[in-house]
Amino acid sequence: MEFFKLQSGGRMPALGYGTFMATGLELEKSLNVALETGYRFFDTAIGYNNESVIGKVLNEWISAGKVTREELFVLTKLPCFGNRPEDVDKYIKQSLQDLQLDYIDMYLIHLPIGLFKNGKSEYSDMELDKSTDHLKVWKKMEEQVINGRTKSIGLSNFNMKQTQRILDNCKIRPDSLQNENHLYFQSPEVVRFCKINNIVLISYSSLGMKSFRELVGISWNNKQLPEMLENDVLVKVAKKHGKTPAQALLRFINQNGVSVIPKSTTPKRIVENFQIFDFKLDTKDMDALRNLDDGEGGRIVRFTMIKNIEDHPEYPF
Ligand SMILES: NC(=O)c1ccc[n+]([C@@H]2O[C@H](COP(=O)([O-])OP(=O)(O)OC[C@H]3O[C@@H](n4cnc5c(N)ncnc54)[C@H](OP(=O)(O)O)[C@@H]3O)[C@@H](O)[C@H]2O)c1
Repeated sequence: MEFFKLQSGGRMPALGYGTFMATGLELEKSLNVALETGYRFFDTAIGYNNESVIGKVLNEWISAGKVTREELFVLTKLPCFGNRPEDVDKYIKQSLQDLQLDYIDMYLIHLPIGLFKNGKSEYSDMELDKSTDHLKVWKKMEEQVINGRTKSIGLSNFNMKQTQRILDNCKIRPDSLQNENHLYFQSPEVVRFCKINNIVLISYSSLGMKSFRELVGISWNNKQLPEMLENDVLVKVAKKHGKTPAQALLRFINQNGVSVIPKSTTPKRIVENFQIFDFKLDTKDMDALRNLDDGEGGRIVRFTMIKNIEDHPEYPF
């Protein structure tokens, strides 16, 4: 495993296990495979409805003495329906309880926009809270580090302007930014921005989130793009190194200095996605893959399942 140094003092594995759209027994089995394989970094969120499954499995592993708490790196997020200073305590406590942990390793603001839950469970039924105040919420995030509920804090889905405003006004700097980042949406300016500011960029949807796209019937903005893992150039680079397209792509993102958290509930793929540190892409490979960036045309995630999200004053895209 390779690690990224965090400015707050600790270190974060360069590869983690994503858990979006994974729940119940399927996730329980997959987490066991992931832990056996060697994954120690787990990415979740209240919005994924799976923290209690993760808590159960991690607790079993710790209780059995197969792993120590210190070896684990657990990341979770403040939900957008809790994106108000008065709600931060409540939601981080809920995550700690469901994850059966005394502290979280990294706590992120999931989205720069706020919602009112009003007893609803579907994002599509929630109302926009247009009063979202990043600086006030960040102050409460800083308190969570001071009171020991989390070791570090960061952001997700914030654009560079929003992130810069936090940097300009914070006491504790964000350790990470978790944003969409993959072959067709490489956002080199965000990669540079993070490097300059000592923020670890965590790529989500590194493999193109095929099952989600199929489920909700969306694609990249540029409909002409071929399925990511079937892209000829990527397939050729992977073959050259005796690796699969998924492994070559994860390695590519990692070699750009970006952390990856691929999700899979297929045991073979869980193992496959972990084997990315035993080869290195050369300059020619890196340049060929960089050429596949399609900028905004490659973006998949716009959170349009949230009604009228584009009307929120802090909509980031
Ligand atoms: N902060 C945010 O707003 C945000 C947004 C999205 C995601 N995330 C985080 O990022 C994680 C990863 O993103 P993601 O889940 O959207 O998408 P992803 O990891 O890019 O893609 C997951 C899809 O790829 C398939 N897959 C996994 N490994 C594969 C392989 N080796 N070969 C072929 N297909 C493979 C999976 O199928 P199977 O499971 O069937 O194997 C699944 O359909 C999430 O799980 C979540 O933790 C965060």
